Amino acid sequence: MAKRRAFLLVSILTAFFVVSTSSYSLTSTDRENLNEQITMENQASLFYQAYGHFFESSKIALRGFGKFFMEMSLEEKEHADKLMTYMNKRLTTPEVRNIQVDAICKHLSYKCLCAIVMPATISGCSGVKIHAEDVSLLAMEDAVGLEKAVYNSLRNIVDISMDPQLQHFLEHEYLDEQVESIKQLSDYVTQLSRFNQSYVGQYMMDNRFLSGSNSNMQDKH
Ligand SMILES: [Fe+2]
Repeated sequence: MAKRRAFLLVSILTAFFVVSTSSYSLTSTDRENLNEQITMENQASLFYQAYGHFFESSKIALRGFGKFFMEMSLEEKEHADKLMTYMNKRLTTPEVRNIQVDAICKHLSYKCLCAIVMPATISGCSGVKIHAEDVSLLAMEDAVGLEKAVYNSLRNIVDISMDPQLQHFLEHEYLDEQVESIKQLSDYVTQLSRFNQSYVGQYMMDNRFLSGSNSNMQDKH
């Protein structure tokens, strides 16, 4: 009798832990979407790293923009890391997947700067020359395009998920920051556009980036 009771107790406890663990872990859909998001964040990090070094190269020599994009690159890596830490907290193993970094160019409206920097094969871009006075404006427009694509990807995960805690995490830790970032980058596009066809705007902004930290460069990002 005692043996039977013990067996029943063990069975109930085992069933409880199996059920509680499986309902606590992320669903396969959420897991897949988060793994894809990690890939996208890592893609964005490499994209900004490539742009940062492009601006620091002697042919462009805008070190302030170089610094700006390098700091953006580190932030994107932190975003990927934070997602992986979160998945572990939800008892779901994250994956680092192969990153096709030039695939990021497809998210951008003007793809040719991306195709030159990465480099990627994009139709219509072969032989295209970028004017030096336009390069920072085009790069900032690319950053807006990329951040909007990241926002839409996160939004899609929140919309599909039935997990309230995951939704809460993404809304507060990611979507809020995306909104701030897109606004700030869009302001930079407007400011650079006002000086179109001259070096003055990008020279002034380059100095501003060179003398500031990322927090005051982007106000709140
Ligand atoms: Fe990000």
